[in-house]
Amino acid sequence: MAESEYKVKTIEWQGDEVVMIDQRLLPLEEKYIHHRTWQEVAESIRTMVIRGAPAIGVAAAMGMALAAIQSPADSYEELKRDLDTAAEGLFATRPTAYNLGWALEQQKQLYAEPDEVEAIRERLKQRSQEILDEDIAMCRAMGEHAAPLFPAGARILTHCNAGALATAGYGTALGVIRSVFARDPSIHVFVDETRPFLQGARLTAWEREQEGIPCALITDNMAGYFFKKGEIDAVVVGSYRIAANGDVANKIGTYTVSVLAKAHGVPFYVAAPTSTVDLGVPDGDAIPIEERDAAEVTHFHGNACAPSGVAVRNPAFDVTPHENVTAIITEVGVHREPYVESLAEAKKGK
Ligand code: MRU
Repeated sequence: MAESEYKVKTIEWQGDEVVMIDQRLLPLEEKYIHHRTWQEVAESIRTMVIRGAPAIGVAAAMGMALAAIQSPADSYEELKRDLDTAAEGLFATRPTAYNLGWALEQQKQLYAEPDEVEAIRERLKQRSQEILDEDIAMCRAMGEHAAPLFPAGARILTHCNAGALATAGYGTALGVIRSVFARDPSIHVFVDETRPFLQGARLTAWEREQEGIPCALITDNMAGYFFKKGEIDAVVVGSYRIAANGDVANKIGTYTVSVLAKAHGVPFYVAAPTSTVDLGVPDGDAIPIEERDAAEVTHFHGNACAPSGVAVRNPAFDVTPHENVTAIITEVGVHREPYVESLAEAKKGK
């Protein structure tokens, strides 16, 4: 895949450094941060320099490769100890993202058996690049599977940012929208702003502008108004983790959108790679939900917008029950109820 095809570079290797665009500063500033250690990568995941489940997976895989490069170990045992420490530190950053654990597992397998330390270093770096390339290919495949689901001139609502920035470079939900747009330039996209971190307003609106896809940015509480007026034909969102029964954890507010979609008879699609599907959790209740800093709710661009000391709850994700999900699109195809069977089948196909 030619690099120049991607207008947004989320994350890449430059020599032995991992470079990420700082997503906290977009769209006002395009700044790139260089990482030389796994600890720096972990901090960037935690503070949301990089975010979005697949992008976090790639970052974690690269973090493991950096851990191997930075480790002074010259025996297998020493290197394994350093890598296990890094894996633990990276895993603790964002508990809801299944891709994070998935990517770490991929890397752990590469040093499970004793080997030359140099060979392990090389393998981890190479695998992290493969995970990046595979992610782009999976997103493109999802777009191909999903595009026929949308009617001509579809008005599509999306929540949060599931675009190139949230992945290795093409996008899950926004990748689907890209593929639909490539076939039908008459589509229109409603972008939820996505309080409190504003991934929709800051990132999806910015990415969509790069692609020239027509859109309207709305605040989250306006979605019901447009559903009621019959101005939304379909919803497509990404996911942080999908349980075996098809329950979908995604950015806070996704559940609300799914309820609105169901109430108005609008199809609600989820686009995510099979690396987001966690057959180890039976349903959404078993998915850990990250709670983030109160300041994300009480402050806006560093300025207080709430009384100081007010009690705050700030869950970063919610769970949409599978009954509200019309179909789940992975790189394997389009999956429908019963998800217990169709998702298990999709994972087997991998
Ligand atoms: O907290 P974030 O910004 O990492 O949350 C991102 C989301 O919830 C996305 O919708 C999800 O990761 C899909 S990304 C392709």
